[in-house]
Amino acid sequence: MKLLITGGAGFIGSHVVRLFVTKYPEYQIYNLDALTYAGNLANLKDIENAPNYTFIKGDITDAKFLEDMFAELSLDGVIHLAAESHVDRSITDPMSFVMTNVVGTVNLLNAAKNSWASTGGFEGKRFYHVSTDEVYGSLHNPEDFFTEETPYDPQSPYSASKAASDHFVRAYGNTYKLPVVLSNCSNNYGPNHFPEKLIPLMIHNIQTNKPLPVYGKGENVRDWLFVVDHARAIDAVFHKGKEGETYNIGGFNEWKNIDIVHLLCGIMDRKLGRPEGTSAQLITYVTDRAGHDLRYAIDAHKIMNELGWEPSLQFAEGLEKTVDWFLANQEWMDNVTSGAYQSYYQGMYANR
Ligand code: NAD
Ligand code: TYD
Repeated sequence: MKLLITGGAGFIGSHVVRLFVTKYPEYQIYNLDALTYAGNLANLKDIENAPNYTFIKGDITDAKFLEDMFAELSLDGVIHLAAESHVDRSITDPMSFVMTNVVGTVNLLNAAKNSWASTGGFEGKRFYHVSTDEVYGSLHNPEDFFTEETPYDPQSPYSASKAASDHFVRAYGNTYKLPVVLSNCSNNYGPNHFPEKLIPLMIHNIQTNKPLPVYGKGENVRDWLFVVDHARAIDAVFHKGKEGETYNIGGFNEWKNIDIVHLLCGIMDRKLGRPEGTSAQLITYVTDRAGHDLRYAIDAHKIMNELGWEPSLQFAEGLEKTVDWFLANQEWMDNVTSGAYQSYYQGMYANR
């Protein structure tokens, strides 16, 4: 199996690459990543010299590059995670989301389709597109959950771009019979999470005594899953998912943002030896995100019943592990916040 994983230097992608490199030593894993601000090869330091792992610096918006790469590697499968992933950035710069998430995905579909069609057909091939629950829009009735049948109703430029990419993947499955499979997952958290997202930002700001910016009233609800459990679900979908199907992934774990921030303040006070209640004083309510989705909640029964996947960690345990990882990996955070990680790796791969 020669497997291309895109976006493998990012948060979730790095956990997927690690899982596949270590669990399947007989596979050749190629990690294709453009190393944008969100890509950090330090996430993969522990496996970077594994004999079945190769990093390729490249941009999925470059169709010719993808065509050449597919011709050279004779790939059997693709797990596509490369994306622009932050809602706030999509509000200020929607076009980069169109380019990577929509155009980049269609480029990748074309490269896989054309290369496989000209070298023996689609038998034994698989194109797996990793997406988000945000494509379903915002829930307002507390009893509702997103199922695989929920109509798409994206509300942010990020979710609109992911929805468009999902539609293209299904269209290629329908029109060209490309063997596709998709999954839509809830919010992830865990080690290597980039500190522009809620949980790592709060951990970092608590540690450095900075204000904790809670958007609006902090009443918005997200459904949180430990990133390693998402990687395990991706393994299950890639190997056992039915062609053409979609699987929703989530841990039935809904939290209001403000409650998570309080939880983190409590954990950090304890771990940093601060008197209880100290960190919570940093909470600062700020102007709400434009068009802020109220609630996401995934119904994950299909993947649980059909593929036998279930989350391995409860939220309390996952949050403790996450905080412990950030406290033990101060250098990772320092390199990210200073920007040093970018110049180091960009320099290393500048001429490839
Ligand atoms: P991330 O932003 O941490 O990582 C994205 C990676 O893609 C980075 O390494 C970046 O360098 C790379 N990339 C960006 N543009 C590229 C391009 N043009 N060409 C090649 N590589 C490029 O994202 P993440 O949080 O790890 O999310 C990974 C995937 O999972 C995304 O498709 C996202 O939509 C989806 N997802 C994320 C979450 C979440 O909670 N973070 C939840 C569900 C689904
Ligand atoms: P985020 O981690 O950006 O993920 P997403 O927008 O994809 O769900 O945000 C999670 C929630 O936390 C979301 O409701 C917005 C909120 N939030 C804050 O209140 N303050 C912050 O500084 C950030 C980054 C997010």
